[in-house]
Amino acid sequence: MRKKVTKAIFPVAGLGTRFLPATKSVPKEIMTLVDRPLVQYAIDEARAAGIKEFIFVTSRGKGALEDYFDNAPQLEQELRRKGKDELLEILKSTNMESGEIAYMRQHKPLGLGHAVWCARRLIANEPFAVILPDDVIAGDKPCLAQMVEAFEETQSNIVAAMEVPEDQASSYGVLDIKEDMGAIVSTKGMVEKPEFGTAPSNLAVIGRYILTPTVLQKLNKKRTGAGGEIQLTDAIADAREDGEEVYGYRFKGQRFDCGSKAGFLQATVAFALARDELRDDLWAYLNDVVHSEKAAQ
Ligand code: G1P
Repeated sequence: MRKKVTKAIFPVAGLGTRFLPATKSVPKEIMTLVDRPLVQYAIDEARAAGIKEFIFVTSRGKGALEDYFDNAPQLEQELRRKGKDELLEILKSTNMESGEIAYMRQHKPLGLGHAVWCARRLIANEPFAVILPDDVIAGDKPCLAQMVEAFEETQSNIVAAMEVPEDQASSYGVLDIKEDMGAIVSTKGMVEKPEFGTAPSNLAVIGRYILTPTVLQKLNKKRTGAGGEIQLTDAIADAREDGEEVYGYRFKGQRFDCGSKAGFLQATVAFALARDELRDDLWAYLNDVVHSEKAAQ
């Protein structure tokens, strides 16, 4: 029987130190691109891909994240009273149904593989998605929905993949390619953060995964890898070694690394330019900046 992907894990336990001092009190995932928190983009993408259960792996200090997903009856009432229907709709579109969202604590920062492993009991014996909210992907069809379609065919592990410059490969999980079939690539395995010059290809893993429960079993070993952390990449490579297929999927869309300040700013500009009510003003401002920069050179 063909299996469906209905559960997604969102690892959000990271400290977000790159965004200090903001992340002293605001979880990084609540930081906004224009007016929507990063995590809302991840939730919307998951929903569009047919996900019904949302599992957040959190840590100490992420209370604001749980509050964000709570209903806001007082605020709703106030907006209703003032006739602010549009805002009310926006607010309601973020409501999560009781029971569709779960929080797991990762008690120690032992790595992405460990964070995913923390959700193992809620996943049980089903294929599942993993979304890293730091990787924001803009596109006509949301990235995870593209991958779910591919999964319907392959019924195997699939990771989002993107070509990166050689000197950046050591920041990513990198695919060891068996056969390149265009949008889909079959792999022999993958390596987490290979040392410069040793990457098996220039195809990097981006933060969207559809995985089989075998990967969770591999995570049971709690093997430490790159950076002394338990790596998801290693568990996927182990599943591959056991004979499971692992595919890379070249998604259509633009990826922003919102784990870095430059990426976050680029995403902010891109998402603002995509909004009718902001485009003209922002465009005029950007033009002014570019012209005065050029004139000063
Ligand atoms: C994580 C994964 C890595 C992947 C990357 C994508 O790394 O471990 O395999 O390529 O996300 O953003 P991190 O960025 O958390 O160091």
